[in-house]
Amino acid sequence: MLPSCSTMSTRQSVMLLVVLVLSLPGLIHSFKPLFKSNSLTHRDITRIAVLRKTAEVCRDIAASKGLDFNLIIDNNLSAGKVQKACLSRDTSTIKFETAIASMYLSNAAVDQIFLLSAARHFDDETFHRGRDIITEGVSAVKAHAKLENYFRGRLSLGQICHTLQDFYSHSNWVELGNKAPYSALIRPDQPLKNLAGQNTPTCRSCVGENCTNNILPDVLNQRLLTSGYFGIFFSSKPTGKCSHGGSADRTSRKDPVGGINKDTIDSSHGFLHNEAANLAIHATMELLEDVRLAAGNTNFMRLMGLSQSPVLCFVIDTTGSMSDDIDEAKRVSFEIIDRKRGTGQEPSGYILVPFNDPDFGPLVMTSNADVFKGQINSLTAAGGGDAPEMALSGLQLALTAAPPFSEIFLFTDAPAKDTYLKNTIIALIESTKSQVTFMLTGSAVFRRRRRTSQDVAPRAMSRSAVQLYQDLAEASGGQAIQVTKSELSLATSVIVDSSASAVVTVFQASRNPGRPDNFNFTIDGSLQNITAYITGDSPLTFSLTSSTGVSQTSSQSSGPLASFTTTGNLRRLSLNTDNQTGLWQLSVSSNNPYLVKVTGQSSVNFIYNLVEEHEGAHGDFSLKEGRLLSGGNASILVTVTGSETVKVTEVTLLTAQVQQRSKDHCSH
Ligand SMILES: *[C@@H]1O[C@H](CO)[C@@H](O)[C@H](O)[C@H]1NC(C)=O
Ligand SMILES: *[C@@H]1O[C@H](CO)[C@@H](O)[C@H](O)[C@H]1NC(C)=O
Ligand SMILES: *[C@@H]1O[C@H](CO)[C@@H](O)[C@H](O)[C@H]1NC(C)=O
Ligand SMILES: *[C@@H]1O[C@H](CO)[C@@H](O)[C@H](O)[C@H]1NC(C)=O
Ligand SMILES: *[C@@H]1O[C@H](CO)[C@@H](O)[C@H](O)[C@H]1NC(C)=O
Ligand SMILES: *[C@@H]1O[C@H](CO)[C@@H](O)[C@H](O)[C@H]1NC(C)=O
Repeated sequence: MLPSCSTMSTRQSVMLLVVLVLSLPGLIHSFKPLFKSNSLTHRDITRIAVLRKTAEVCRDIAASKGLDFNLIIDNNLSAGKVQKACLSRDTSTIKFETAIASMYLSNAAVDQIFLLSAARHFDDETFHRGRDIITEGVSAVKAHAKLENYFRGRLSLGQICHTLQDFYSHSNWVELGNKAPYSALIRPDQPLKNLAGQNTPTCRSCVGENCTNNILPDVLNQRLLTSGYFGIFFSSKPTGKCSHGGSADRTSRKDPVGGINKDTIDSSHGFLHNEAANLAIHATMELLEDVRLAAGNTNFMRLMGLSQSPVLCFVIDTTGSMSDDIDEAKRVSFEIIDRKRGTGQEPSGYILVPFNDPDFGPLVMTSNADVFKGQINSLTAAGGGDAPEMALSGLQLALTAAPPFSEIFLFTDAPAKDTYLKNTIIALIESTKSQVTFMLTGSAVFRRRRRTSQDVAPRAMSRSAVQLYQDLAEASGGQAIQVTKSELSLATSVIVDSSASAVVTVFQASRNPGRPDNFNFTIDGSLQNITAYITGDSPLTFSLTSSTGVSQTSSQSSGPLASFTTTGNLRRLSLNTDNQTGLWQLSVSSNNPYLVKVTGQSSVNFIYNLVEEHEGAHGDFSLKEGRLLSGGNASILVTVTGSETVKVTEVTLLTAQVQQRSKDHCSH
């Protein structure tokens, strides 16, 4: 089987070297360096804890409803198994995996952002300050969950999990023989007992490389809690204290020599690595349980990334000429709401941002469909003028509030006034991975007349005004659809299409300036309901050839391979692919700029994050903020979702500006 993979794009004008080596079993396909296959990482610990805790919650929910629950909860769960056992109707695990990834990536980032903070790692016997970081963080996570701000909640959660997990590697909790997590670390009301005094020696030097017995017998007998001292720049530590250990830790070269950390099986106390990691898993689950008790099951599940179907997000121009468009936005959103109500595909939330001139907003975000209906019902078209409007400000507000991977629809008939926001919007699109599709009704043949003016005041958009919308659409994987107001109701089928579950982008490419070209894309057995879109001004003709050599041209609106409709600059092709998996070709003939996009429904998808290597005691990868730099190497963490058998064999980055062909190969 050749799986479907979304295209990914980066606006770099240089070739990037992508090093992708896959070694971990199961769903995770990751890069190799420093990910010791024989040791558990923060990422493994976080992932296992989230999957186990989520499965436990689902088991309890099932029991309370008298339903069967057959999943065995162990360290070998996959997101797909858990999601299924939780009776989620979402057939794609992409949101669950993305949520888990954002937790483990923010966890990993702690080593980079807070490398020198002892308390963040429970180094240097900083038990009180470390505990404060955890308990303050837990309060923040609970507050975020309550406000349904899951994105921020996951980032905070990832960070405190790092500190909590480090306790088991960096302290002597395991050496003291404890078999359960130290619950006081998440309970600010409980005293931290039996801490080794500031002047109490805790270690003796290791015997050569052998640190099996370096914790002083008195410390063990009196069950005193201590942790290793750590210094990258300085070797000083209080007399007789244990060190972290390892080559980056200068204190470990000073008497008492050696260390006690259990970061990997090769560490000073690596013989206890598995025990420490296992306790860290249980401690993380205990922390998650604490969050669940405060947030409630529903919000907790959403925080973990489960039971979140897409949000429906509209950004609407409300100036005087927009009343038809507002009516259409209302019609299509009501259609989606009414059709999906009570099904697993009901949008999990609704976002509405009106914009006008000079105002924009307020943003309305609700999980109640009726509240949304009321809000959209109350929109009226008024004000504005010939001047361009605050489209990008409205879009920025929506991008900031919508969860990652949202699809945002912006309705307008005018150019944007706030074009200076273009780069900000592109950066937001890149970080949220949201798609923006523009429904433009201002550039078509029919130009509006201002009702308040006796003159004809056309609201045509210049090429450059449309180009801005096209650039933003393309950077996000969306489209800029130009239709007349009377055609709009036909074009909104793209909104209904995108509200289906598990929609993946199979292929996307554009040509600007336009030129005739051929595009190859792969249809695999997991794909259903495949739709191709070609947006571009006429004249434009195309032909489609299937993997078995059947072909159809644009002179046949209904043929063996597709039936299609044309509305404004949008051609929507419903592909009939039965049994014709493999390489398809679409040939487009036009000298106008155009964009080709192929989507389908599939449970197989992938998520990716730019990561960077960093040095230090816990040398590792962490999330890369911002853009790639040209001329350098880049690392990308790719996680395939929805299949336990798909392996990534090749990743190709394409440039949105140079308009290259995209190809993502995956194979069994
Ligand atoms: C985990 O699951 C995989 C596949 O589902 C299986 O091959 C492997 O043996 C399991 N490992 C353990 C420790 O159960
Ligand atoms: C390390 O020392 C302990 C005793 O302190 C001993 O039992 C063990 O065999 C030694 N390990 C190695 C690898 O030498
Ligand atoms: C598309 O596929 C055909 C047939 O395999 C191949 O000859 C052609 O080079 C491919 N085109 C591109 C642009 O890769
Ligand atoms: C494909 O579309 C049809 C009709 O819209 C729908 O009944 C079917 O469930 C869709 N397939 C999937 C996998 O969602
Ligand atoms: C697709 O293949 C299946 C089994 O190979 C066959 O039963 C079915 O008729 C085929 N469908 C079409 C449209 O060729
Ligand atoms: C990129 O990676 C290659 C191979 O690992 C290495 O030789 C090269 O120096 C790296 N370039 C930069 C700029 O880091």
